[in-house]
Amino acid sequence: AVALPWQRVLSARRVSRIAESKLPRPYTVPLTIPPVLTPARRDDTTDYYRIVQKPFVGEILPSVKTDLWGYNGLVPGPTIVARRNRQTKVRQVNALPETHPTLGYRPWTSTHLHGSPSEPHFDGYASDLTYPGQWKDYEYPNSAEARTLWYHDHGKHHTAENVYMGLAGQYHIVDPLEDKLRLPRGKHDVPLTITDAMFAEDGSLMFDDDDRTSFFGDVILVNGKPWPVVGVEPRKYRFRLLNACLSRGMNLRLSNGQPFHVIAPDGVIVETPIRLTSLRIGMAERYEIVVDFAGITAGQSIQLVNTGVENTKDYDHTGKVLRFTVKGSATDTDFNNLPAALAPQHPAMALTPAMAKTTRRMRLRRDDTTNEWSIDNVTWADVEASGFTKLFGNPQPGDVEIWEIDSRSGGWFHPLHVHFVDFKVLSRNGGPPRPEENGAKDVVYVAEGERSVRLIMQFSKPGGTHGRYMIHCHNLTHEDHDMMIQYQIGAHHADSDPINTAPPRSGPETPL
Ligand code: C2O
Ligand code: CU
Ligand code: CU
Repeated sequence: AVALPWQRVLSARRVSRIAESKLPRPYTVPLTIPPVLTPARRDDTTDYYRIVQKPFVGEILPSVKTDLWGYNGLVPGPTIVARRNRQTKVRQVNALPETHPTLGYRPWTSTHLHGSPSEPHFDGYASDLTYPGQWKDYEYPNSAEARTLWYHDHGKHHTAENVYMGLAGQYHIVDPLEDKLRLPRGKHDVPLTITDAMFAEDGSLMFDDDDRTSFFGDVILVNGKPWPVVGVEPRKYRFRLLNACLSRGMNLRLSNGQPFHVIAPDGVIVETPIRLTSLRIGMAERYEIVVDFAGITAGQSIQLVNTGVENTKDYDHTGKVLRFTVKGSATDTDFNNLPAALAPQHPAMALTPAMAKTTRRMRLRRDDTTNEWSIDNVTWADVEASGFTKLFGNPQPGDVEIWEIDSRSGGWFHPLHVHFVDFKVLSRNGGPPRPEENGAKDVVYVAEGERSVRLIMQFSKPGGTHGRYMIHCHNLTHEDHDMMIQYQIGAHHADSDPINTAPPRSGPETPL
């Protein structure tokens, strides 16, 4: 059967099978903030964390029990806060069941820290599998500038299901710059992880990727709560938006049309705030925004709404995300700043086409006979079949390259993610990038039918990190079937093989 692109189907109001009466009315459930994870131990150089990936019964819908998988039994996972240039070591223990309760597959995992460079053997390579009963220690240098990252599962062919079950959380790198800028902090610095879900009659999560095309749930969750509501003070807030949906892109705006400022596309703080009234956010993109509620009458409500993007199924309530209710007065007006000058220029933003050694082109496509997605007709299966030697490119450390993406097929958009690097979006179809993309990024929203989205990037430093890294679509259904390839920086050495250098271990854990 030939799968056709989604049309906007106005008649489909919902897709969950659970009784409508079991869903809360939007904006009645309070927002919660995931806890910050405490290290198991610290020493001079490193913070040590232990995370157990485990099944638990949670309550996403009020009074409805749902089987979930969470990092330490939480959905989303606990937030990790790392200091720039201070190392973290995170032990990931796979304590998941031998098979998924409804889908029946064996939940191997691989944990990726998305948004800052890691060595290949700690990067969550899709074929570096940790099986139930095994554990693996991941080491992160946290060398990147202050930013919002996230950690999530990346096990081959089941990333979508594993992330959907709950294996995703935010990770922040902080540095003294933010304090100097006096940006909102503490309770005024709020992570907002957005996902979508569908529920079966019995309250369990339904998974339906419509013939490996996309997954679109009808219940919008923020930090694991359906269409929540949160009280805010009349002052500035910093929100760390993460689109952790499997396939749903969004256009976000405030219901009163109020402008807000993007301060960090994909979490990296820009030089000057970007003023907008709406923001397109594809899967895995992060946007930090500052919203000022000062001057809003006490008691008034403002919604964060989603006006939708093309080729994404909308249901009755997928236009609603979160409601802010403004309180009478601010308890604290310190760190209430949005300076006109933020961070120094990020090195990626200083790259120019004249510096590039090579331009590489890639085509995003779909094979309608096999329902497989590919990049330049290559899939992850091809990479595996080559003994992991097949490469999209082999830049040397320090090289600058332009990658030009062509997605002429239409009918779907693809948020393309390149591991390891921060890139600059040079142009879209000959024109400029979108305003919100004006900063260093690691995911680019390649829209329907775009014939040329150009990125420029530099691969580590001369003498720096080398090895193999993935490139893939962050529509997780596309990624799993099988829209993922790899490139290699410099040489491939035994000291940085993604699979063999730091394999997972079985049996009793050693002390952390
Ligand atoms: Cu967020 Cu390769 O992934
Ligand atoms: Cu990544
Ligand atoms: Cu895709």
